[in-house]
Amino acid sequence: MNNAKRRTVIAGNWKMNFTPAEATAFINEIKPMVAGKDNCDIIFCAPYVTIAAAQAAAEGSNIKIGAENVHFAESGAYTGEVSAKMLTACGVEYVIIGHSERRQYFGETDETVNKRTLAALAAGMKVILCLGEVKEQRLAGITREIVSMQTKLDLAGVSAEDMKNIIIAYEPVWAIGTGLTATPEQAEETCGQIREVLVELYGKDVAEATTIQYGGSMNDKNAAELLSKPNVDGGLIGGASLVASKFTAIVDAAQ
Ligand code: 13P
Repeated sequence: MNNAKRRTVIAGNWKMNFTPAEATAFINEIKPMVAGKDNCDIIFCAPYVTIAAAQAAAEGSNIKIGAENVHFAESGAYTGEVSAKMLTACGVEYVIIGHSERRQYFGETDETVNKRTLAALAAGMKVILCLGEVKEQRLAGITREIVSMQTKLDLAGVSAEDMKNIIIAYEPVWAIGTGLTATPEQAEETCGQIREVLVELYGKDVAEATTIQYGGSMNDKNAAELLSKPNVDGGLIGGASLVASKFTAIVDAAQ
């Protein structure tokens, strides 16, 4: 973390978990536990049908509720999709785009990730843009090339001005939901490489102001060490974001 230069963001990705009633109970439980912990932004990204209940429970607290994806069109024949206009109409400011599970299971590519990102930004949303290498790419020693390519393709057409609304989440795919965490050194190295790409694309000031999170089996035990690294500006947390005590411990590690 480098709080002098950029905001630390601790975000939960609930994935396909929590009914509205469960989300309400969870937010009511965690709200007092994270109250006043203002050294980081706290966000939970929720399934579409759960957003309203989570927002109602979070009202007046330091917790923000986001979405887990968004479509690039404003409206039209895209069964099952939700537009940025719909999300902002519901008061949703943050959205995850490009999560590896979307890329793996739902055919999303850097091209569609880029289109979704541009649409979300145009609607005034803040984007948590996920990228990261798969295991074979890390073993082949091409992680830098992969994250560099993803960063450039996913951000194509995003202006330097719009970068204030972009958070990048570096999520090595081999570390997601596996219990395998990147070592703090690996997280630092790759987040640093992503920042170098941002320097190339936008210059030093923008690169240094951009929050780059680590995601992949971050939990109450390993968060402090990961967050101690200068280029790791927060976390995108899956499993541990469903357990109030674990998520709160990660928020504490960011204080
Ligand atoms: P886990 O924390 O469950 O590994 O998930 C990470 C993730 O995919 C966050 O987006």
